[in-house]
Amino acid sequence: MYSLFFRLIFQRMDPEKAHHLAFAWIRAAARVPVLRTFVAAVLAPRHKELRTEALGLRMHGPFGLAAGFDKNAAAIDGMSMLGFDHVEVGTVTAQPQPGNPKKRLFRLVADRALINRMGFNNDGSEAVAERLAARKAVFRTTVGVNIGKTKVVPEAEAVADYVTSTERLAAHADYLVVNVSSPNTPGLRNLQATESLRPLLAAVREAADRTVPSRRVPLLVKIAPDLADEDVDAVADLAVELGLDGIIATNTTIAREGLGLRTPKRTVEAIGAGGLSGAPLKARSLEVLSRLYARVGDRITLVGVGGIETADDAWERILAGATLVQGYSAFIYEGPFWCRKIHKGLAEKLAASPYKTLAEAVGAETRKKAAA
Ligand SMILES: Cc1cc2nc3c(=O)[nH]c(=O)nc-3n(C[C@H](O)[C@H](O)[C@H](O)COP(=O)(O)O)c2cc1C
Repeated sequence: MYSLFFRLIFQRMDPEKAHHLAFAWIRAAARVPVLRTFVAAVLAPRHKELRTEALGLRMHGPFGLAAGFDKNAAAIDGMSMLGFDHVEVGTVTAQPQPGNPKKRLFRLVADRALINRMGFNNDGSEAVAERLAARKAVFRTTVGVNIGKTKVVPEAEAVADYVTSTERLAAHADYLVVNVSSPNTPGLRNLQATESLRPLLAAVREAADRTVPSRRVPLLVKIAPDLADEDVDAVADLAVELGLDGIIATNTTIAREGLGLRTPKRTVEAIGAGGLSGAPLKARSLEVLSRLYARVGDRITLVGVGGIETADDAWERILAGATLVQGYSAFIYEGPFWCRKIHKGLAEKLAASPYKTLAEAVGAETRKKAAA
């Protein structure tokens, strides 16, 4: 039914307008007590066996909403109502900014993919912190806060910019993510080089500890799928060295070649610059994740994201080494029953597997390969 709705309504609308419309509906539904209880009962039934402990946090399951959908922390309960086990808000920057000129979000329907060059449009960390502080949670969920660099701030001053956001947001975050991998802020991805990443992560850690002395806010870094393999290894080593809590793999890709795209080349070229997400990203995101797990094992929590569409995909990431998995693009194509399907499928996969718990399954495939 959703696919018909998608074809008749959303596909005919500008993608960003469709996003705002869907977002408004989700928020509205979550404000009506009877409705939200009903929707959550249908779309978010809990499976005890999927309960997940990660980053020192207890979650209903491993499947969360990736950053970028709820940039301003305005629909956390709505997304929880739809079944996401955690919601990563952001990317939030220290200063509010409008993002890139429109049009900046495109669908490649034949590829079940998106290209975006949103450019961190967001209300800024002060406003988002106020919203999070004022929030009265309806559903118990885990809230990650993803931070990035303000566009007008020069690369040389990036650390101070991230620190400002950390000081404002850490207290409201169940976990904090340093995003250095979006392709739509000039220079941002240079921060992935270890000589830039080390001082950045150390400063964010210090700022989080200083502003939230009562607990250790888990800190993760989110990386690009376009890193060369040796750079993936370097980030993994650095994460271990710095005692980071997790790595999120991956963000969108700037690649267009070698992804087996069905959308005609001239259409893709006409869209222009931006990060590609969805099904074509699956293979590389999985590869990066497996590589990270082979390097860090259980020392660091890995979060698998990029092209996850089905429970099979999510299960594959767990076997590759992900304790948590996330998705964004497939939600656009699959609609409101997506989380329900993933949860049901994951529970079935687990039951049919030799593993008693999800935790036991994490990394099993990568370990097997390493032993062979
Ligand atoms: C429209 C759009 C906006 C996004 N914005 C952000 C963002 O602000 N910060 C971020 O870390 N990732 C952002 N992402 C990347 C997603 O979080 C995710 O890493 C990526 O889309 C791969 O997952 P998917 O294939 O399930 O979409 C965005 C993705 C899309 C499609």
